[in-house]
Amino acid sequence: MRQPARRRGGRAISGRATHEGDQADGSRGATPGRQSAVAVAEGRGGPNVVAHDLNSAVALARDVYWVGRHDPDTLLHCNAYLLVDEQDVVLIDPGSIPDFHVIMRKVLDVVSPEQITLLVASHQDPDVCGNTAVVEEVVNNPDLEIAAHPETIRLIRSLGLRSRYFDPSENGWRRVLKSGRVLEFIPTPFLHSPGAMVTVDVKTKTAFTSDLFGGISREWSLFASGGYLEAMTPFHQRYMPTNAVLRPCIEALEQKGFERICPQHGSVLEGEQLAAAFAHLKELRCGLDLRAGNG
Ligand SMILES: [Fe+2]
Ligand SMILES: [Fe+2]
Repeated sequence: MRQPARRRGGRAISGRATHEGDQADGSRGATPGRQSAVAVAEGRGGPNVVAHDLNSAVALARDVYWVGRHDPDTLLHCNAYLLVDEQDVVLIDPGSIPDFHVIMRKVLDVVSPEQITLLVASHQDPDVCGNTAVVEEVVNNPDLEIAAHPETIRLIRSLGLRSRYFDPSENGWRRVLKSGRVLEFIPTPFLHSPGAMVTVDVKTKTAFTSDLFGGISREWSLFASGGYLEAMTPFHQRYMPTNAVLRPCIEALEQKGFERICPQHGSVLEGEQLAAAFAHLKELRCGLDLRAGNG
């Protein structure tokens, strides 16, 4: 019988970390060297805030971790996320082959790989899930499943995966974990792939939005700070098809009452940043809108 998901080192997570002082290489000047596996803070902006170390997994909420990679040589930052529940561990958008070693090391900060029970591929792009076959080998869990939209499953079969697929369209667009915790899947067709979907951790009201709400920028921080809307603009202009598709999806997502948006690129959005991001994307002309002759 499988053991309940257990954090490595038995660390209790009581809060989240801040991003002040992040540097381009992902380190923090005031905290040299490798910090603890997971930085813990007592509250946002309060006197006990502890800066996080981007070389390690970072707690975003209780049981939700950023395990991504900041590559200072590109404008595109790979955000993978780990959700650690009582008896399930879910790795969301495990990333690319070049990202594999960093992401897996950060996963190891939190759990043992064989504890991972579900991989989510929000769509088929190589930066999203190109390393899935390698992750699958390391996880080496015969019960591992891969959750993806059927249009994505059709394409990622080309990766030669051996795990079972979990098709949300055949399961009420939700996955109930063994504890009863619910993941909701929201299809976001053509944003930017036919099989793109958002994954929502209902318990923490965290939305893992993949390319939606993503950003590209030279300056980057894990938690959105000044300039995050400007970073979202060129990314959506390039990768989203048109405002006519983007706007209704953003309006629908806005009604969901998320507390946190975790995109696969760019920065994590929280609090008032969500309203600003929804407003920005609803009005953003993108893709075909920017073609000559299209207004
Ligand atoms: Fe993509
Ligand atoms: Fe992407």
